[in-house]
Amino acid sequence: MGAAGVGWGKAILFGEHFVVYGLPGIAASIELNTTCTFEKNKSGIASNDLVTGEVIRYGDDKGKRLNQVLEIIFNETGIREGNFRLAMSTNMSVKGGMGSSAALAVSITRCLDREFGLGISDEKVNDIAFKVEKLFHSNPSGIDNTVSTFGGLLWFVKGGMGNKMERIGVKRPVEAVLIDSGIIRDTGEAVDFVKGQREKEPEKFSGMFEEYNGIALDARKAIEEGDWKGVGVLMNRNQELLREMEVSSKEIEEIITACLNAGAFGAKLTGAGLGGNAIALTPGRNLQEKVAKECKKAGFETYKILIGVQG
Ligand code: MEV
Repeated sequence: MGAAGVGWGKAILFGEHFVVYGLPGIAASIELNTTCTFEKNKSGIASNDLVTGEVIRYGDDKGKRLNQVLEIIFNETGIREGNFRLAMSTNMSVKGGMGSSAALAVSITRCLDREFGLGISDEKVNDIAFKVEKLFHSNPSGIDNTVSTFGGLLWFVKGGMGNKMERIGVKRPVEAVLIDSGIIRDTGEAVDFVKGQREKEPEKFSGMFEEYNGIALDARKAIEEGDWKGVGVLMNRNQELLREMEVSSKEIEEIITACLNAGAFGAKLTGAGLGGNAIALTPGRNLQEKVAKECKKAGFETYKILIGVQG
């Protein structure tokens, strides 16, 4: 077996969709990840699709998404020939919300970098993953690839002259639960939907943007102070805005109700919405266990995570 590369999954605590329009987002890497392992092969380049499980031969079908991902990475790394298999595995949900497309790109790039000794910097890995994100949806903010590359808890602002990323320090990492709604959704579709809504109602959106900006600033302060009750309240307010944006869903709302009834400090969708995943803030192992149990009882898959473990 050859080299392996890892791309981290992410949870957005604040600001999905708002970040696309240059407002700040707060996101954390989670322990869940995608790993790409290099294996020697006899004939050409192959890989396996994480969603369908299908073995895909590079070059055979240019229309396949995984081949398009590989094409971008090969162009950027200068590696495009050889006899090898890129064996992909993940413990993340690939249904949306955990940044699986960014993690895929980061894991493949890091695997090739290690195997061929390319000396690719983290900034370059991030750039390549951003190019791949553009394949998945036309207007990514860059938050997913940034968290997947650098890890940790980050304050992220998309900018015309380059994105801004700052690490947020916490007194101690905090427990949270990710809950999979079971509904697969497409990030691009959700981003395009929001764009359309904003074009229809620009005034409503500018009011929402202003309100969200205040939420993000307060949230950063509350996180730094370890005021988790305050963070929870702000997450609920962020969710109200996402509801107004119409990117929540019946299943996400059902999950949020179950989490809050079980004592979660706050709960909201995480990622693009319209399905995908929700996140509940549950400081302490006992509360985390209780909330996860309630969601499982309601039929949802759950992932217990820690927010604020530095990358
Ligand atoms: C997706 O994880 C987050 C969105 O804000 C899109 C993006 O930032 O590129 C919905």
